[in-house]
Amino acid sequence: MSRLIIRGGRVVDPSQNLDGQADIALAEGRVAAIGRIDVGPDDNVIDAEGLIVTPGLIDPHVHLREPGEEDRETIKTGSEAAVNGGFTTVCCMPNTQPAIDDDSKVEFILRQAGRYGSCRVHPIGAATKQRKGEELAEMGLMAEAGAVAFTDDGGCVASPGMMRRVLTYVHMTGKCFMQHCQEPTLTAGSVMHAGANSMRLGLKGWPRVAEELIIERDIRLNRSFGCRYHAQHISSGGSVEIVARARAEGQPVTTEVSPHHLLLTDDLCRDYNTLAKVNPPLREQVDIDALIQGIKDGVITILATDHAPHSLESKQLEFAQAPFGIISLDCALPLYMKALIEPGHVDWPALIAMMTINPARLCDLDQQGLGSLVVSSAADVTLIDPDQRWTIRVDEFMSKSRNAPYDGWDVTGRAVGVIVGGEMKMLRDESRLRCKAATCS
Ligand code: DOR
Repeated sequence: MSRLIIRGGRVVDPSQNLDGQADIALAEGRVAAIGRIDVGPDDNVIDAEGLIVTPGLIDPHVHLREPGEEDRETIKTGSEAAVNGGFTTVCCMPNTQPAIDDDSKVEFILRQAGRYGSCRVHPIGAATKQRKGEELAEMGLMAEAGAVAFTDDGGCVASPGMMRRVLTYVHMTGKCFMQHCQEPTLTAGSVMHAGANSMRLGLKGWPRVAEELIIERDIRLNRSFGCRYHAQHISSGGSVEIVARARAEGQPVTTEVSPHHLLLTDDLCRDYNTLAKVNPPLREQVDIDALIQGIKDGVITILATDHAPHSLESKQLEFAQAPFGIISLDCALPLYMKALIEPGHVDWPALIAMMTINPARLCDLDQQGLGSLVVSSAADVTLIDPDQRWTIRVDEFMSKSRNAPYDGWDVTGRAVGVIVGGEMKMLRDESRLRCKAATCS
């Protein structure tokens, strides 16, 4: 049996508290061994010296726009962007056209992912039909078909009555409910953070309290159900406090951030830069500081991208008309390194936990052996060069879209290899691969 041996890297696998030099053998789509491994005559070898070797990175929050908006992204291009950025699994949001709100649409995503996906793609189902917040979607059937969680993301389940029913039903599926936390009456027509910049620009502001109120309300509603509740892409320092309190009480509450909410403020909107228009909006340095503290304190346990592709034509509309969204699948890892590792806020095991085992547990993907390199887990591996310096060029993204405000940023650290189910999907430096001519394709 031919194996693929990843040799000599620093293996960081928080699922088993591992951080040290080790080799990993992959065979038949699984992790076959980890430790000090002797290379056999039929084995192929990747030289991982100087690299960090981790379980494949998992992004639980991406928009792949299929079906319906394939001009912006598809499962094929979005998963290629994911692999380019070091991800082996992404979970895609249901705000497509039509919305993923029944089992046939979940099956469609899984079929497309099987045919065209470069990495694993797991659909997240809508909580309400057409995401309108009026009627429950067929969540039981969607869960059976393979939906890994539920959300109306892009919009909030706003009505408390509907939210109560959603929590009851999601609880019955055993999955997690993910809320896009935005109280609609406080944010009608809002296009950026409510503060001095929005006043100066004459643009309608989206206040922090619109996010905080929904999280408070949902946590209170959920007390009687104990459904797993996840607050998506939080942007406000106040939200960190609310989630921290609920977690301290032992409630099943988690939350995530996106790279833009850790690196950018609403100052970037000052010249009506639509690349900075995102929902929830970029806020102020005090919020960034609180979000980072939330990460350090273990309140925020998941790093996502909220990769939201839009055409540049649509982003060239006036600020008020342009769509909300920033893409970052191709470059999220160095962005997170810039925000968290370089200033010394977290170490590598903490960062990797937030991008592997924690999102795996959120979406029950740990049950499929994702997010971990323990023996018999899925052979999904990411190789990271922590020292590689490079410049982000949006024109080089694998995504179909270009709406990222990071073009020209000098960054350090890059995913340089990606293996999904034992298959090499990306290796930037082919000379690291020592393969036996007979077995290596
Ligand atoms: O900025 C955003 N864009 N936030 C969302 O919640 C939705 C997303 C999109 O689908 O474009």
